[in-house]
Amino acid sequence: MQALAQSRPVLVRSFNEWRCSARALLARQVAPDAVQWLYHAGAGEPASPALPSCNSTLRISRKLMAMLRLAACCRVPNRWAFLYLVLWRWQHGERQLLSCGDADGQRLLAMVLAVRRDERDMHARIRFRERREDAGPPRLVAWCEPGHDVLPLLARHFAARLAGVTWMIATPEASVAWDGAALHYTGPLLEPSLDADASYYRAVYTPARLHADLVGTPQRAALNACRRCGLWQHATQAVPGAGPQHAAIMLLGEQPGDQEDLAGQPFVGPAGKVLERALVQAGLERRAVYLTNAVKHFKWEPRGKRRMHKTPAQREVAACSHWLDQELAQVRPRVVVALGSTALKAVTGNPHATLKDVMDKPFQHQGRWIVAVYHPSYVLRVPGAEARAQAFAQLAAGLRAARQLAL
Ligand code: URA
Repeated sequence: MQALAQSRPVLVRSFNEWRCSARALLARQVAPDAVQWLYHAGAGEPASPALPSCNSTLRISRKLMAMLRLAACCRVPNRWAFLYLVLWRWQHGERQLLSCGDADGQRLLAMVLAVRRDERDMHARIRFRERREDAGPPRLVAWCEPGHDVLPLLARHFAARLAGVTWMIATPEASVAWDGAALHYTGPLLEPSLDADASYYRAVYTPARLHADLVGTPQRAALNACRRCGLWQHATQAVPGAGPQHAAIMLLGEQPGDQEDLAGQPFVGPAGKVLERALVQAGLERRAVYLTNAVKHFKWEPRGKRRMHKTPAQREVAACSHWLDQELAQVRPRVVVALGSTALKAVTGNPHATLKDVMDKPFQHQGRWIVAVYHPSYVLRVPGAEARAQAFAQLAAGLRAARQLAL
């Protein structure tokens, strides 16, 4: 049975296809590691919800099915394999899967929350533009750039709210049109006459992640294959650095957080928002700096329903220095801003370095400037409004100093 599954990788283009294949595989007791899921991102959701018969007696709770359906929209590597693992465990009676203490359950929940957050963001961001009356349908056009595959969720939302008018939502990956009665999914754009409208919206659209178009270094695939320490086991994916390949300034954080782990990009969560404010104060543009972390996988422990950040151990920082060294060699920044103590230890290679000793005193190390500042997460959590304001001011002043040293 295993050899059969290995010799026939399973192609999946949508949640419904995955569900049907998963049920058939479960009925034949094909173990998760015997299946190779190949995802072919199609044009959104197939129009027909009809499923081929799966002949499986598997019963899963409504709650789990709803979670699987949402998690399937989360753009993380191996999502279908992970969802199949969840289903497999459920079928084998592992009901603790949905409890807070279970690592797979935690991951599933985190994926669901990331998708929900993206969906909410897109609801808030989408602006429909009315086309000339003689242009024909659709009447309204919108452009958006979701971080996850939430287009079908958006489509259903607007089909209910804008049922009486024709519209189209275009994204870089796919588009969906409502003709007043049904939804039609297609590739990136429907037709050339709509291209101009969608392009207009693409031009005025303000993506949340300004650095989305920048290339990560080192390469994502190599990082995802890294087994130099054990952190990969509980992380969703590795988070490579992002930014111009030869930026004069490198900002070095500690490790990705919960949201970065799901998005696969550094500093997109709450700490990233603080960092962006500080960059603005320092007169620096986020897109002009290279952002990365000393450790590339999210280290966490379960607390209630949340995945709480856990400081990486020195051996994990040391294991990940392999990747940081590559980034330093490739980007060759004039200045490295060490965001917090883990970053300082990593960039100096000195596990005893302390922030206090070098804060506000930029120094030279291996031919480049090092500027040590508070980590943006510290700015968020230090008790007391005054202490928070001081920590933020120190962070912004450090970034300003980095800007001057980089000249
Ligand atoms: N904290 C970090 O150090 N890095 C991130 O990418 C996010 C939060």
